[in-house]
Amino acid sequence: MRGAGRGAVVRGARPPAAAMALLHTRRLLAAPRLAARASSWWSHVEMGPPDPILGVTEAFKRDTNSKKMNLGVGAYRDDNGKPYVLNCVRKAEAMIASKKMDKEYLPIAGLADFTRASAELALGENSEAFKSGRYVTVQGISGTGSLRIGANFLQRFFKSSRDVYLPKPSWGNHTPIFRDAGLQLQAYRYYDPKTCSLDFSGAMDDISKIPEKSIILLHACAHNPTGVDPRQEQWKELAATVKKRNLLVYFDMAYQGFASGDINRDAWAVRYFIDQGINVVLSQSYAKNMGLYGERAGAFTVICSDAEEAKRVESQLKILIRPMYSNPPLNGARIASIILNTPDLRKEWLVEVKGMADRIISMRTQLVSNLKKEGSSHNWQHITDQIGMFCFTGLKPEQVERLTKEFSIYMTKDGRISVAGVTSGNVGYLAHAIHQVTK
Ligand code: LMR
Repeated sequence: MRGAGRGAVVRGARPPAAAMALLHTRRLLAAPRLAARASSWWSHVEMGPPDPILGVTEAFKRDTNSKKMNLGVGAYRDDNGKPYVLNCVRKAEAMIASKKMDKEYLPIAGLADFTRASAELALGENSEAFKSGRYVTVQGISGTGSLRIGANFLQRFFKSSRDVYLPKPSWGNHTPIFRDAGLQLQAYRYYDPKTCSLDFSGAMDDISKIPEKSIILLHACAHNPTGVDPRQEQWKELAATVKKRNLLVYFDMAYQGFASGDINRDAWAVRYFIDQGINVVLSQSYAKNMGLYGERAGAFTVICSDAEEAKRVESQLKILIRPMYSNPPLNGARIASIILNTPDLRKEWLVEVKGMADRIISMRTQLVSNLKKEGSSHNWQHITDQIGMFCFTGLKPEQVERLTKEFSIYMTKDGRISVAGVTSGNVGYLAHAIHQVTK
């Protein structure tokens, strides 16, 4: 029992004078130790702010209102507002369980069946780069981890520039990912808040002035947070400019299939750029399109000039990954690999991805029609024009604050809502609340 050992003072009993003197001496001796404890190694560490996206979920969880809605983080919900595990995922899991597969370490670059299938999914089975093997794909820890491998690789090996140009705005985590990897953040115009749509001329103007041989980040589809993508003719113009400026293109493809419901259509820009001879780097995520959020399955790809270069790049990616986390997690990659490589499951997956994308599209339409029913006279067309998981509503920070305070509707401060969190059951409530704060 602590405190009951030698010299312990029994509470309530009065210690004799000699014992008091001893206690006093001990206290004096202990004083420097206490002082050392008070000046901790970490006393200078300041309290940091909550994450702008994941912090919204923490606030949502504390709210006791039964009508509360979490439209912050991009996580798909079914029409009952429940997290959705795809049937093809359940089947793949059953296959893994029935085969009693082992839990050995994966190779540093990940599960080979998974990385090959990921490259094929992104590039297309007929891609020359894929067929000739002039690429390398390594497994990453979902989209963020894959982006970070890429950022660290660029930091170490991209010698011509430290500058990464992000669209304005971009996903909130892009900035810290590249900054923490030691690169410098720059921006190009992308979104026009006046029209709630793409500022294409602004983007082209800025991109055409980016110093040659810099890095540009492009969202392959379903731009996060705006839901605004270039049209194919616009992608073509972008590709021509990027090529002229000799920029290194970093595609972030976190939503393949989730934008249009069609994996090939959503990968169109990536494939077009590569066909134009632009050797891009690419990050992929299976969080959204397979619903493997917590499984952390993703991939990072470098398109090289030939297969021999790809081998060299792969060797360096492995050297980079090994001290970061040694080798990637097994389960998510196994699930994704089984789905991608088993024809029946792949077919079922494509139907389920389309189902999720279609539900989101239908929520956009319902939200606009409910806003009209509420009597809103604003033009909400951008809600249906935008694509993918998110809608950039155009709501001001003070309107967002009212939605949260008065209606327990949670979203990021920039007015982005995850349409994937809206259901037929709560779309009316959402429209009512938006109308109340915007009328
Ligand atoms: C989002 O933007 O909400 C998602 O990409 C999830 C995340 O990690 O931020």
